[in-house]
Amino acid sequence: MEQYISIILAAGKGTRMKSRLPKVLHKVCGRPMLAHVIRAASEAGVPKNIVIIGHEAETVRQTIGPEVEWVYQSEQLGTGHAVMQAEPLLADFEGQVLVLCGDIPLITPNTLTQLMQTHTSSGNAVTVLTALMDDPTGYGRIVRGTKGRVHDIVEHKDASAAQLKINEINTGIYCFEGRKLFAGLQKITHANAQGEYYLTDVLSILKKNRGIIGAVQVRDPDETMGINDRVQLAKAEKILLQRVLKQLMIDGVTIINPQNTYIEAGVVIGPDSIVYPGTIIEGKCVLGDNCLIGPYTRLKDVSTGDNVTIQNSVVLESSVRDNVTIGPFAYIRPGTVLGDGVKVGDFVEIKKSVIGKGSKVPHLSYVGDAQIGERVNVGAGTITCNYDGSKKSLTIIGNQAFIGSNTNLVAPVEVGADAVIGAGSTVTKSVPEGALCVERSKQMIYLGWTARKNKEK
Ligand code: UD1
Ligand code: CA
Repeated sequence: MEQYISIILAAGKGTRMKSRLPKVLHKVCGRPMLAHVIRAASEAGVPKNIVIIGHEAETVRQTIGPEVEWVYQSEQLGTGHAVMQAEPLLADFEGQVLVLCGDIPLITPNTLTQLMQTHTSSGNAVTVLTALMDDPTGYGRIVRGTKGRVHDIVEHKDASAAQLKINEINTGIYCFEGRKLFAGLQKITHANAQGEYYLTDVLSILKKNRGIIGAVQVRDPDETMGINDRVQLAKAEKILLQRVLKQLMIDGVTIINPQNTYIEAGVVIGPDSIVYPGTIIEGKCVLGDNCLIGPYTRLKDVSTGDNVTIQNSVVLESSVRDNVTIGPFAYIRPGTVLGDGVKVGDFVEIKKSVIGKGSKVPHLSYVGDAQIGERVNVGAGTITCNYDGSKKSLTIIGNQAFIGSNTNLVAPVEVGADAVIGAGSTVTKSVPEGALCVERSKQMIYLGWTARKNKEK
């Protein structure tokens, strides 16, 4: 493909979002709108993307990061003015320019590839992506001549009554021959209904100079839907979610009820895994093969091995190896690593702890800031007392130790390998390897006590 760059317009305020967050940073399936657009351009093979920012520029730049080039537009004087801002970066550029907006998160690499291929093979001065809309209100209209060639784009506010009836619209996505684009931009004015420098005015200038205006009609107009308010944001979310779920199903994941399953873009799930209803999988999750996830489970930034079961639980920023079972009703907090075959059962909270291969925390426990070895059994109700009111301390438990039910491990404390802790102990001093530790008061027995008590009544 001939050399391409993209210019992505994202300087506008997005007033209708009624938000302190810049519009293009609102997320769709977990990813800022602008990031979706950049990704689509990159996946379509565009090696360099230039983003025009203005409103809340610094926030936008910081959120998206250094993967693109940033150009600052200090005043938003129109789409033509916005594109002009990129010119200094492209002094020696001889290639083609793909123009996009930052608020069209549903655009696919496929459509962009098709547009670029048509543009390159036809030798058009500009090729515009158009869409047929039932309700074209607000959009620029595509004005075609008798032979069907595109003559011009007329903005809604500048259109005649006849032009307002046209339902083929400008999606705001185009390919331009770079040199001609910037030459044309020199000539546009702001003599129009909105007093703006319109990028669309470049088209009639190119045409006057005998350049050809080509057009590609997008097959699915949803792809070019611009997001202006939160109602449209929700609509985009729904469409993208369906795409994400469909792709996972095609790749071999069973999703029992896609209508109540939320999985963000970029989540990876291995084949033969089953996602039960009510499940939310967010962020950078990479799940293995043959896992059972849900029902009613939330995973965020979690990686798992294969054959993992997670039921009715919340797992955040943690890593889980093969054959682990979690839940129901477990809460795994950030920084946790669960080794092969670990079992975390019901009503267990684990925070920032490493639990070794084959160890079990089956019921009603809190394990925080702990390093637990392999094949350890942590009895029901065991608590690591990791916080003394001012600082957090570590609990270390060696391989094959047996922690009796209702043990309090007052950190910092260490239990050696093969040690046994009697049920109900409050352990404040470290327990040597292989030792038995019992910390509880002696049990007293008073024979016949109940009968005596009843006689006194
Ligand atoms: C534009 C097109 C219209 C098309 C529509 C598709 C023009 C003149 N009109 O209209 O034909 O149907 O998009 O959605 O181009 N922006 C900047 N800097 C500016 C102005 C705008 O970065 O100075 C950005 C905005 O943030 C936005 C995009 O450009 O992302 C489009 O601008 P907007 O004013 O919304 O254009 P429309 O009026 O929708
Ligand atoms: Ca406008």
